[in-house]
Amino acid sequence: MKWVVVDDYDALSSEAARLLLGRLAGQPEAVLGLPTGRTPEGMYARVVKICGKSDPCFRRVTTFNLDEYVGIQASHPGSYFTYMKQHLFDHVDIDTRRIHIPDGLGTRWARKADSVEERLKRECADYEVSIAAAGSIDLTFLGMGQNGHIGFNEPGASFESRTRVIELSESTRHANAEHFADGNVPTRAITIGIATILESHSIVLMASGDRKAEAVARLATSELSTGFPASALSTHRDVTVILDRKAARLLT
Ligand code: GLP
Repeated sequence: MKWVVVDDYDALSSEAARLLLGRLAGQPEAVLGLPTGRTPEGMYARVVKICGKSDPCFRRVTTFNLDEYVGIQASHPGSYFTYMKQHLFDHVDIDTRRIHIPDGLGTRWARKADSVEERLKRECADYEVSIAAAGSIDLTFLGMGQNGHIGFNEPGASFESRTRVIELSESTRHANAEHFADGNVPTRAITIGIATILESHSIVLMASGDRKAEAVARLATSELSTGFPASALSTHRDVTVILDRKAARLLT
């Protein structure tokens, strides 16, 4: 793993945006894995500022989001679909047919599947097929939960896992509750698997702030454990970890 420590969240966002835009400059048809959460907001803001609607940097790009909540409409204010529109897709010139975000209702399988569970199963299987059809992901950006989750692969997730429906941990639901004003935080999500993430050619993990310092320190030990999902990244040969000083404070 390559470790990059920068001063603060602004510098982290600039560095991540630089890596993303650098990749698109050299590979305009890149396939990207994209995260949500607070951490990548600054990266998206910079990318939008530099690219904007008139620049073609995203025109030929294909994107796969890491995850989406189960049981809410894409238009729900707390959905990751809404997040991606607000932070990136509405502000760059991207072909919407090349945007992929799991549908947490599995809507398009309604006619073919008898139950909700069957719809979701088909949605997950189809997501993997779409990634394979795109020829795999070139560059995946990741945030990390305080418990080491990547995407929504919570502790205990197999390193061989693929796109599937998972139960969210209480701590993750609590951490993400602010996006659900009515208090109805979803209990499940669709996430791409750890194996799916590891098949990405390159990976950039971002962590910012004090509350990530313990997870970062654990990641740095190179211990491999399904109890700490991000540890799977140490088996990959092209991972860059970008940290601000606060997230790096427990590193020696
Ligand atoms: C969420 C997302 C993850 C994200 C993580 C960290 O649950 N599903 O993809 O990396 O939590 O979020 P944040 O950046 O807000 O700390």
